[in-house]
Amino acid sequence: MKIILTGSLGHISKPTASQLVKLGHEVTVISHSAKRAAEIEALGATPAIGSITDEAFLTATFQGADAVYLMITAASAGDIFEAGRRQAQIYAAAVKAAGVKQVVNLSSVGANLGPEVGALHIYQIIEGVLTTELPDVNLTFIRPTGMFYNLFGSLTSIRQDHAIYTNNSLTKASSWVAPADIAPVIVKALTAPTAGNTVQYVASDEKTYPEVAQLLGAAIGMPDLKAVQLSDDEMQQRLSAVNPNTQFVEQFVKMTAYERDQDFYADYRQHQPVLGPTKLADFAATFAQVYQQQA
Ligand SMILES: NC(=O)c1ccc[n+]([C@@H]2O[C@H](COP(=O)([O-])OP(=O)(O)OC[C@H]3O[C@@H](n4cnc5c(N)ncnc54)[C@H](OP(=O)(O)O)[C@@H]3O)[C@@H](O)[C@H]2O)c1
Repeated sequence: MKIILTGSLGHISKPTASQLVKLGHEVTVISHSAKRAAEIEALGATPAIGSITDEAFLTATFQGADAVYLMITAASAGDIFEAGRRQAQIYAAAVKAAGVKQVVNLSSVGANLGPEVGALHIYQIIEGVLTTELPDVNLTFIRPTGMFYNLFGSLTSIRQDHAIYTNNSLTKASSWVAPADIAPVIVKALTAPTAGNTVQYVASDEKTYPEVAQLLGAAIGMPDLKAVQLSDDEMQQRLSAVNPNTQFVEQFVKMTAYERDQDFYADYRQHQPVLGPTKLADFAATFAQVYQQQA
């Protein structure tokens, strides 16, 4: 099959590209950096250098594809919801113009919820645009839970305060996922598509923040590492000090408060995925390597 991947050689797209190439598929990888071309070729894939915001580039790149994998990247400035809507419209227009019939979209847990879920509402917007604009296309929405790698955001507070700060609950388990466990799900969705629109959650482990702190602390030799619950205002202040996008910070804190206070995982439980093999303990070993390297 001829398959086009967005997401360059990022966490999910790199293992996805490798697995597709090994299965004998003709894979094109989109990156907005020409420097990535040699590494993409070394994987056995074809680089397409351009931006996912460029509809004409995407249309040309998608020509003749049997399936495409679409993801968004972090919005750096401006209204995150409008940026998500615009990106989905660009993707839909390019898919339509190129006549592609199979789309796999990297969505997220929370995509079933409205503005009450804060930042994650972007995924309901994107799934909605693709569904409305592409009625004749098979759409598979992959909804991972929280990436283990989000925990790298706590490296500084772990080193300085022996603390992982969150406005989340300290007693409810959160669902976590490794990109290594997402890639095979995407490969299957691209190569053995289901007709119509489907939603699939992907998760690897379920752990509370104190359990996360205990495992990471053991891995880095910091037995007193603690999860510390902050108020929404305190969390917002901490995040605002390092992220200038005020709207994103507000929506991020709102998202976590929703997870803390509401039944955030109700839809996930109704479509409970088999947990992937990569556990938090495995991620803790990777985390420890990064932590030691930065010392
Ligand atoms: N964090 C979570 O808990 C969570 C949960 C659910 C879903 N998600 C989704 O997962 C996504 C991240 O996936 P990932 O970890 O595989 O991504 P990633 O490692 O951040 O890689 C994304 C790559 O996309 C490329 N890129 C960035 N801007 C581009 C542009 N304008 N045009 C073309 N390529 C561009 C970049 O590579 P080049 O420099 O080579 O272009 C970048 O490395 C998030 O954006 C979110 O939508 C995240």
